[in-house]
Amino acid sequence: MDLNLKINGNGKLVIGNIDSSKIAEEYGTPVYITDEKRIRENYRRVFNAFTKYHEKFKILYACKANPNLAVMRILEEEGSSIDAVSPGEVYTSLKAGFSPDRILFTGNNVKNDELEFINEKNVLINLDSISQLERLSKIVDPENYKISFRVNPMVGAGHHAHCITGGVMSKFGIKEEEAPEVYKKAVDLGFKPIGIHSHIGSGILDPKPFKLASNALLDIAGNVASKADIDFEFLDFGGGLGIPYKPEENILEIDKFAKEITDIFKTKTGEYGLGNPYLYIEPGRYLVGDASVLLTRVNTIKNSYRKFIGVDAGFNTLLRPAMYDSYHHIVPVNNVFEKGNEKVDVAGNVCESGDLFARDRPLPKVKEGDLLAILNAGAYSFSMASQYNSRPIPAEVLVNKGKSELIRERETFEDLFNKQIIPKRLEK
Ligand code: LLP
Repeated sequence: MDLNLKINGNGKLVIGNIDSSKIAEEYGTPVYITDEKRIRENYRRVFNAFTKYHEKFKILYACKANPNLAVMRILEEEGSSIDAVSPGEVYTSLKAGFSPDRILFTGNNVKNDELEFINEKNVLINLDSISQLERLSKIVDPENYKISFRVNPMVGAGHHAHCITGGVMSKFGIKEEEAPEVYKKAVDLGFKPIGIHSHIGSGILDPKPFKLASNALLDIAGNVASKADIDFEFLDFGGGLGIPYKPEENILEIDKFAKEITDIFKTKTGEYGLGNPYLYIEPGRYLVGDASVLLTRVNTIKNSYRKFIGVDAGFNTLLRPAMYDSYHHIVPVNNVFEKGNEKVDVAGNVCESGDLFARDRPLPKVKEGDLLAILNAGAYSFSMASQYNSRPIPAEVLVNKGKSELIRERETFEDLFNKQIIPKRLEK
């Protein structure tokens, strides 16, 4: 278990060396609080583990997990590269200071004007379909134009069916058996394919599917290299590294994991004569997931047919429990040590019955006005937030060495109308 809980002598939840209730007082609730040090530690743990076994290694932060500019700056400083899946993410990465050569664009169902945009920005494109390849060949001059392809390694895994991205049901990537043909076609068009990529899913704590997928990707790469005469500069294994959300879940042992993956990489690149390419991985959740909490205040305790602890956040601020039935550990910030003695439902403030952060969850006695911390809210929390129910999006705060800084202002009611236009004839 490693839920990255820091508790002071009084049993209070501390983040970035600050008593988290102080942050609630200063910035209001709900509020996302992100611990800078933890992001840096997470990055370094992965980087050091892999480079110990294979020097030519890059981490491409999957910025969909948390595209806040300050978070991106931290990872830029650490030396990360970027996995971007939309033109907006490419734009954000450039704005955060990543040079184009540190960004890989892996889109799916990409439009022509988006291909044009990526090309203008000088960012390497990882193509997801033959259609994209054909359209790109008409948009750019393919002569020596570098590209990569995402393939489907026919291995999929993930914490929920929605988060499995390999196998026959997946919309992503090029069919395994078509890969050599597609690379050949690219070469015939004049392109210079330099990479191969797969991403099997998200939230995976078991190393087994990663190992299967790594083997599969290397087999595909070997086959492609021999049939289409490709010299790979990189092999990208995608992201998906999980973190424990439940206290009883184990961590992914990163050193062992790195050794196993690099062993497969080295053995098979040798077997297939692939030279000495870079190994890329694209973690999102692993880098930022456990670096943030969502602080929310209890405002209503209702003893109905069940006991509801009503809070001032909802699935508009953290969608994962409603969307994937995901578990997020919840602790009262003022007495983290106290054991849960009562099973309650923690309910958000969105007008939908599915807006629950927890069902039948043992929690210590809480009262109205208490603060709760929803843990592991750094990945796919703010980034999936919305204004549903016309609720402005909460503030984001960065904490480090006992100091807190606002990194996104709390939205106001006026922000709800950004870009809206009332036609003249309907004006009052
Ligand atoms: N690379 C590609 C091409 C991806 O599509 C993804 C995630 C990643 C890397 C990073 O995956 P990670 O290391 O963060 O697992 N909203 C879901 C997760 C969806 C992930 C989508 N793709 C959730 O809240 O669990």
